Amino acid sequence: MTMTRWIKAIFRRLGLEIRRLPKEIPPWGYPPAPPWMHTAPLITEAEAESADHLFSTLANRVYCSEQVTLRRTPQGEDFRLKYLLLMLDVRDLSVLELGPYRGHHTFMLDKLGAKRIVAVEGREGNLRECEKVKERFGLEKATFVLQNIEELADGAEPRFHGPFDLVFCLGLLYHLPDPVKALCWCRRQAPSLFLGTHYVEPAEADRYTTSHFTADASLERNGQRFHGLWYHEKGREHGPAGLSPRSFWPYEPDLIAMLELAGYRRIHVLGRDLQAGWPHITILAKAEH
Ligand SMILES: C[S@@+](CC[C@H](N)C(=O)[O-])C[C@H]1O[C@@H](n2cnc3c(N)ncnc32)[C@H](O)[C@@H]1O
Repeated sequence: MTMTRWIKAIFRRLGLEIRRLPKEIPPWGYPPAPPWMHTAPLITEAEAESADHLFSTLANRVYCSEQVTLRRTPQGEDFRLKYLLLMLDVRDLSVLELGPYRGHHTFMLDKLGAKRIVAVEGREGNLRECEKVKERFGLEKATFVLQNIEELADGAEPRFHGPFDLVFCLGLLYHLPDPVKALCWCRRQAPSLFLGTHYVEPAEADRYTTSHFTADASLERNGQRFHGLWYHEKGREHGPAGLSPRSFWPYEPDLIAMLELAGYRRIHVLGRDLQAGWPHITILAKAEH
């Protein structure tokens, strides 16, 4: 018996199992990058916490850092940007962005020519960072609003006004306990929705076995039952998290059925990726055929 097997056998007797962690997926995907390829260095956790990295990684005509350089977030590359650039045309659109966090996508929507951007954020601390980004990069077309999207979906009076051409919803839906209600609200705000969200991918079932999830959850809305998992949120003090204790992650067919129930008629699945290490789906949905 090899040493490794011997150690594993001892642990098994103790009721423990040793497993090799999956290798980090390199930001350039597979196969491994050749040595000449430039890969962006990671920003530090401290920078990510303070949002200072935005000032050295984003550049536009108004502001460019002395040391402008492309750097990755601690979660790796933002795979969603390819869809934003290749599949969406925001020129002259009035956009309602949900959950901007530090305003990095707001910056991009502005750069891509949106006419007006209203970004609704639920945390005061994040809103302050967004305001700094607005000032530094001269995002005059952007307005950041403090409001809870769950409450808006429940009928709260919005602190902003439309009309909007597009709801831009990246990284928010999987932080909500009732995505059906939220999607119905999104549909009432604009005829188009650009949606990027984590979902439950059966081919990756092992990933969802941690204590962060409650298996086999279901939601019943308008006589329809939707299947998925409950995700236990990290808490209000965690900047990117949801505001409720748990959120609902649907399977892909259930997410599509939710969009249909909300009134979207053309639903294009643009692609699936591992975003920040979790299965992620990007969808462009339109109310009209
Ligand atoms: C994971 S971050 C996503 C940031 C960015 N949109 C992205 O995709 O990279 C989620 C953001 O949504 C905000 N958020 C979460 N739940 C919210 C709610 N119910 N109402 C408003 N904002 C919320 C968080 O404060 C955070 O800024």
